[in-house]
Amino acid sequence: MEKKSLTQQKIEAFEARRSALLAMGGEALVKKQHDLGKLTARERLDRFFDKGTFQESQLFVKHRSTLFGLDKKEINADGVVTGFGQVNGRTVFVAAQDFTSSGGSLGEMHAKKIWKVMDMAVDARKPFVALNDSGGARIQEGVPALDGYGGIFYRNTIASGYIPQITAIMGPTAGGAVYSPALTDWVFMVKKSSYMYITGPDVIKAVIGEEVTHDDLGGAVAHATKSGVCHFATENDEDCIDKLKFLLSFLPDSCHSPLPTVPCTDAPDRLCPELDGIIPDRGTRGYNMRKVVEAVADNGIVFEPHELWAKNMLVAFIRIMGKPVGVIANNPGFGAGVLDVNASDKASRFIRFCDAFNIPLLTFADVPGYMPGTNQEWSGIISHGAKLLHAYSEATVPKFTVVTRKDYGGAYIGMCSKLLGADYVMAWPSAEIAVMGAEGACNIVYRREISSAEDPAAKRKELVQAYETQFNNPYFAASMGIIEEVIAPRETRQRVAMLLNAYQGKVQTRLEKKHNNIPL
Ligand code: HXC
Repeated sequence: MEKKSLTQQKIEAFEARRSALLAMGGEALVKKQHDLGKLTARERLDRFFDKGTFQESQLFVKHRSTLFGLDKKEINADGVVTGFGQVNGRTVFVAAQDFTSSGGSLGEMHAKKIWKVMDMAVDARKPFVALNDSGGARIQEGVPALDGYGGIFYRNTIASGYIPQITAIMGPTAGGAVYSPALTDWVFMVKKSSYMYITGPDVIKAVIGEEVTHDDLGGAVAHATKSGVCHFATENDEDCIDKLKFLLSFLPDSCHSPLPTVPCTDAPDRLCPELDGIIPDRGTRGYNMRKVVEAVADNGIVFEPHELWAKNMLVAFIRIMGKPVGVIANNPGFGAGVLDVNASDKASRFIRFCDAFNIPLLTFADVPGYMPGTNQEWSGIISHGAKLLHAYSEATVPKFTVVTRKDYGGAYIGMCSKLLGADYVMAWPSAEIAVMGAEGACNIVYRREISSAEDPAAKRKELVQAYETQFNNPYFAASMGIIEEVIAPRETRQRVAMLLNAYQGKVQTRLEKKHNNIPL
């Protein structure tokens, strides 16, 4: 038999070492992961990256703790797979925790691998994606594990607004470990197999006596419908990764990169005749604003974060002429499209994301006002509502507003009125731009006249009509140049496309300072 050269032997030894590391926690634990309906970290990456493009870094990193038996414990790749590859032809950096290797627990070296890949993403100005599946801080290691999180949170913050950062929660996430996801721009969760909470059911029971399951407390549905922590609740690992890739298709690589453009097969001047019939005759009836957004979008494709939370406000990514646009819209199909604490938070964060990454904003307003009541006042509607004003005013991207129906009071300003910085405001003939609805206005202004009239009902009707004629239409605002144009609903896509073309080169600067102080 021919004797192998020393180099050949070294290569074979290397390959054996590498295969052992690539086997993660071993067959039994991989099977356990599959039995739970979960993919392993490496299977997730296989689905995420274009075939053969994933380049792993720091596979050979080992923990160096000797505490509590760790000196005898091998943890393959120290429980996290890091590196970069191509997603639909574009580079993305990733850290995927491997639950089969010591529960994906985060120790000092595990964290350092994540720091490195985050630093690489920032230096390369490319998106960073975290696929989380971890028992949290590695208990045996103690404070170096906690510090590991500190370094991640710091990096999340420094990279915020510079590169897109996305987290997919694909297993447990407990305690302070929840804060890296919360610092990233977008959080995906997988129904049934993922959860996030600061303290789990056992602690909750011990401290306040409340009984709750993991899923009810911090599962995907809870966070997608109740807390708003989760932007996308997905069905399983495959669905999660596919939706994550779809989101990436709307995002630029960094705040200094061009927007990703796709060939447009939908004519920019396409009319939308279906919109001419969408506003109900009765002003108190709702309609689904998503239909308006679908009509205007290229090929009707709408990608909605927070689809299940604060449904009275709709935010979405669409494309027009192949380029991403961020849509913010009251949805009168839910709670009359009123502005409340959650709707304000949802819209403000979306606006700030789009502005940070140069995605133009298109606002559809149909809003009866801010939600009244002690609940909202004591929940801080004043400061939450102020976030919306701040976010719109601060944004320097092209901002276009279409008023479809009601646009009343402070909420009129909140939905990107001209003086809040809209570049161009259009209104449909059904628009009602006023301090408030005619009924409410007359009750306040003409209370005495109505009550002392011979026929109060007739008097009220007459006064309401007069108010409506004056204010509840777009023409008073148009006559004063407060809105630029009244358009037929069917012309909306065409007009928005023309505006997007016209404003492609928009550059706006703000006062030189350290940073704004948004009312958080
Ligand atoms: C070390 C851990 C670990 C951890 C899991 N493992 N979590 N090792 N530190 N935090 C190990 C287990 O010992 C086991 O190792 C393997 O991972 C799989 O765990 P199992 O318990 O067998 O899995 P399962 O039954 O599916 O339960 C999963 C789990 C449970 C619910 C996540 O492991 C668990 O409760 N872990 C601890 C969770 C936690 O309290 N973490 C600390 C949170 S506080 P072997 O060797 O047997 O395979 C925190 C602070 C962060 O993270 C602060 C940041 C500022």
